[in-house]
Amino acid sequence: MSMAIAHTPDTPRPSEESRWVGSENSLLPEDEAVHRWYRFILSFPPHLVRTYATEFELTHSSTLLDPFCGTGTTLVEAKKCGISSVGIEAAPMAHFASSVKTDWCIDPGGLVKNAKKLASSLNRRGLPRRLRTLSSEASQLILADSISPVPLHRTLDLIDAIGDTGEFVPYERLALAQILPCKVGNLRFGPEVGVTRYKKEDAPVLDLWMSAIHAIAADLEEVNCNSAVPSRVILADSRSVAEALKPRSIDAVITSPPYPNEKDYTRTTRLESVILGFMLSRAELQAYKKTLVRSNTRTVYRDDDDDCWIAEHPEIHRIAEQIENRRLQLGKTSGFERMYHRVVGLYFGGMAKHLEQLKRVLRPGAQLAYVVGDQASYLRVMIRTGQLLGSIAQDLGYELERIDLFRTRPSTVTKELLREEVLILRWPGDK
Ligand SMILES: C[S@@+](CC[C@H](N)C(=O)[O-])C[C@H]1O[C@@H](n2cnc3c(N)ncnc32)[C@H](O)[C@@H]1O
Repeated sequence: MSMAIAHTPDTPRPSEESRWVGSENSLLPEDEAVHRWYRFILSFPPHLVRTYATEFELTHSSTLLDPFCGTGTTLVEAKKCGISSVGIEAAPMAHFASSVKTDWCIDPGGLVKNAKKLASSLNRRGLPRRLRTLSSEASQLILADSISPVPLHRTLDLIDAIGDTGEFVPYERLALAQILPCKVGNLRFGPEVGVTRYKKEDAPVLDLWMSAIHAIAADLEEVNCNSAVPSRVILADSRSVAEALKPRSIDAVITSPPYPNEKDYTRTTRLESVILGFMLSRAELQAYKKTLVRSNTRTVYRDDDDDCWIAEHPEIHRIAEQIENRRLQLGKTSGFERMYHRVVGLYFGGMAKHLEQLKRVLRPGAQLAYVVGDQASYLRVMIRTGQLLGSIAQDLGYELERIDLFRTRPSTVTKELLREEVLILRWPGDK
């Protein structure tokens, strides 16, 4: 493990006004093409990517990186703008979605024709007396009642019919992933994932799926002229980004990493991850959780030591101590509560490790935009994520240009307004 970092105090004042007032986090109707194939609650909007791609003066010869690419918003928008991109993502379902959303080379007419053939063969089948189900191990990974028995049967039938070879398979599976959580299943996002009170006994799986297929085909026609713009997505852990990318190959970064809060991000895509077979056992879930930045107590493991990367950062120690002292005052003793203060060190340590590794793949002068949110999830102790990451980045040799306000959101615990910010950094190159 390499050096721990020290604290530098001269952080620029964050801006007080957002430049996106009113449209901060929505997918604008004119931006829907491709982005709508599959998004999740954690996705940021395409116009944010455009704003910073323009500001960073990216051109057709630039390479843009999103090291926490999620469902590929940065990559899709880059491709639409003619900019080459690379994404890194540790979650198999999100990695799959990004990979499909950045490959525009198939024939849209062929996709619709193939899907219609599959749908008409399935339409002729009635419901059998014994419905298809998931294995008991896979069922235990999803929330109870996430999906009712009949829609689940229809979904599993469709997955079988789609199969696993052929040029249209990824698009057909992604269309299914898109309709699964809320249209076929019983999930709601607000922002935590939960099960709706009303459970659908049945759902028109094939009709919903065909609509998603038609939308994909229409979007492919629309974006066809940019299909040759390179984009690739790597399934990897961005704390080891230098192992995945060539030295000095990246001109800019636009990304949104996880924030330190009590949200278990792995639940956001759990239903489709299990049904599409990306995760079928506790062991697989655990292996995948270990590749994530530690942003909540459900992804902390005994051997974790990312906190050594911020061993000399007094403000992060102060926050961790404040959380632990408050826990003791309040007499909170559950296993998760005892780990709250630890998550803070592991989170910022993991991000420090990522930023240290990133230096090797950046070209001198590279500009970076990190969208991050303040949090008060740990016993109401305020964590100014953007300011702390800015200070860590400065300690590692980055220049902190400024902190923009993206939007404010009410805290679910304190109701106080929490800032979501964009940290603008520049990598000057090794001195
Ligand atoms: C806030 S989301 C990004 C959303 C993305 N901007 C979009 O529009 O869909 C953060 C993502 O980081 C991923 N992630 C967390 N830890 C990671 C790691 N160590 N390496 C790579 N990806 C990671 C999560 O799986 C999640 O998809």
